[in-house]
Amino acid sequence: MSEILYDFGSGRSDPGTFPADALKKLVSRAIDQEAEALTNYPGNLGHRGMREAMANRESTREGVDVDPDHMVLTNGSMQGVTLTAEALQDDHGDAIILEEFSYPGSLSAYRSLKFDMVGIPLDEGGMRLDAMEAELVRLDKAGRRPKFIYAISTYQNPTGFVMPKARRQEMIELARRFEVPIIEDNCYADIHYEGPIEPAIYALDDDPNHIYLCSLSKILAPGFRLGYIYARPPMLDKILARRHDAGSNTFASAIVAEFYKHGIAEHAAVTTPPLKSKRDLVCEKLAEGAGDICAWSKPVGGLFIWVRIPDDINRKDLYELAQSRGFNYLPGISFHYKSANVPYLRLAFGHLTEDQIAEGIPILTRCIHESRTSNEPIGFDSLF
Ligand SMILES: Cc1ncc(COP(=O)(O)O)c(C=O)c1O
Repeated sequence: MSEILYDFGSGRSDPGTFPADALKKLVSRAIDQEAEALTNYPGNLGHRGMREAMANRESTREGVDVDPDHMVLTNGSMQGVTLTAEALQDDHGDAIILEEFSYPGSLSAYRSLKFDMVGIPLDEGGMRLDAMEAELVRLDKAGRRPKFIYAISTYQNPTGFVMPKARRQEMIELARRFEVPIIEDNCYADIHYEGPIEPAIYALDDDPNHIYLCSLSKILAPGFRLGYIYARPPMLDKILARRHDAGSNTFASAIVAEFYKHGIAEHAAVTTPPLKSKRDLVCEKLAEGAGDICAWSKPVGGLFIWVRIPDDINRKDLYELAQSRGFNYLPGISFHYKSANVPYLRLAFGHLTEDQIAEGIPILTRCIHESRTSNEPIGFDSLF
């Protein structure tokens, strides 16, 4: 196998904006200030300063009060995905509702917990609520109530789309009517490029059934393994009852809390512009190389571009050809809730250099052209 020089596989931020010098200064300070806390277990909620910093992050973005005592620090938001799923599950085979294309980590967790996943088709505004309502009615008639709706409503992974406020409100109404909690996974919320910022579900509705997951992986670095759950009692207690690991890393929390003590805006102003120009470059290169045969999203935030490839391509062969030329991406099948081999691929552009993008995307578009069995132009009028 050839060396992968253009790895568009995993969703990471720009390593060039990692604030190494600023963080180095905070390391010994964290040891001095937290010596006592470090010699003890963190407990279920975790480092108070970090929870305050993240409550501040949330309330600044959403314009509502967020109580740090309703925040639970986790080992990345992925631990939030599993903890909340375990807390809401009664039995194997319980139904859950989620986007037809979703984050592979969550799909894998839900698969191993043996949920019956019900995928909802997407459009440019996220899950189609007519389809969601039809599924809720179908399940209701069968005497089944889904355990939760899992929604990546903002800069969705993999499509990049955002659910508009009015649709969020309708989804909340549906969830209320069928008494289903919503788990909103919002780890890309602060990677915003342009346009309106849509509110989080918890900011629109104070129903204690809604659960919110967020992370430091996408705005700072995944290696800290820091994320959090925001949930109100009694839901909060139900989730905490599933936790048996004595809490999250105090050392990492203390450093990150200090780094974001005055909010996240200053650092976001450094990290976001390079991501935005990489997004533009990927779109430009796709248009140059495959404008006549592919369609793709131009996300207003987040780290992913979702590409519709022609139907007359053997998807496995395309993947292997791209790999053999040093280009990696995640194929559509990885994101489909039933692992259907759909004609899409996802490009994660955050951690690549502009040179890698400028050289890499033409390699991909050439592979797409070469893998086709016809030369007909396609002209998709929609991504879905
Ligand atoms: C939607 C979504 N949720 C959760 C995660 C997990 O992130 P982490 O555990 O690093 O916070 C990811 C990572 O790509 C993601 O895209």
